[in-house]
Amino acid sequence: MQQHALAPVDVARPELAPVSGLEIVEVLAVRHWTEKLFSFDVVRPAAFRFRTGEFAMIGLPGEKKPLLRAYSMASPAWDDKLSFYSIKVPDGPLTSRLQDIVPGEGIYLRPRATGTLVLDALVPGERLVLISTGTGIAPFAGTVRDPETYDKFAEVVLIQTCRHRAELGFGESVIASIGADPLVGGFVGDRLRHVTTLTREPHTLAGRVTTLAENGGLARAFGGRGLDPETDRVMICGSMGFLKDMAAIAERLGFEEGANNRPGSYLVERAFVG
Ligand code: A2P
Repeated sequence: MQQHALAPVDVARPELAPVSGLEIVEVLAVRHWTEKLFSFDVVRPAAFRFRTGEFAMIGLPGEKKPLLRAYSMASPAWDDKLSFYSIKVPDGPLTSRLQDIVPGEGIYLRPRATGTLVLDALVPGERLVLISTGTGIAPFAGTVRDPETYDKFAEVVLIQTCRHRAELGFGESVIASIGADPLVGGFVGDRLRHVTTLTREPHTLAGRVTTLAENGGLARAFGGRGLDPETDRVMICGSMGFLKDMAAIAERLGFEEGANNRPGSYLVERAFVG
């Protein structure tokens, strides 16, 4: 794990050229969690509006035009910084380069946000259950820091399945710092629970979240109350296989998928993976 302090800008790196429709935003901090995972903060353009849980296109210069990918904002809508959480794909056209950014450099942001993982797309409920695999936790890192979440729900559970312990670091740090959060720190208390499961090494909860949802393991971790469409509202974000399997479980349990124009009892982000 490595925290870049405000390092001097590498003069060998070219400045980003202005591109119509894109903002150039300055990188404020970068944190490498594992060889395959990193997160970073950028300055939020004053005019950029989004709802917590949405995603936007970010990227770097490409051969002919900027190379942009959809990334969830991993910070809430009230924050003046934007956070992102990313995998590093060794041969990935964008992430193989994005992973080398340092504070002071710029990246491109298209200042238009969209997405389904928003509180507005859920009908009222008592408990909000946010279920993710891997980097799918990113939008929920904003949701758990949004006061509106706690206005609407008495209880919030953030669940993440990863292969190895080290991959839980980002989510653990979001949860650990929430007590000091200027807007929600004062009242989150024990209303927010963090449940982690690992699939490739021993852990308190071992196995995929989907398996645990079906064999009762998750209900036990919840203190006896399994997923219930009467009282729970669910958001799902992660790999394509997980989205498919978890949505099927939700449907079997009687949850109904919501959308921006038709609120429901569970939500899936299908626009991108991870
Ligand atoms: P597993 O180790 O059993 O494949 P990945 O790194 O491949 O994106 O996976 C992240 C986590 O998501 C891993 O723990 C992985 O478990 C789990 N996972 C992968 N596919 C599914 C699925 N269809 N349902 C639930 N969990 C999944």
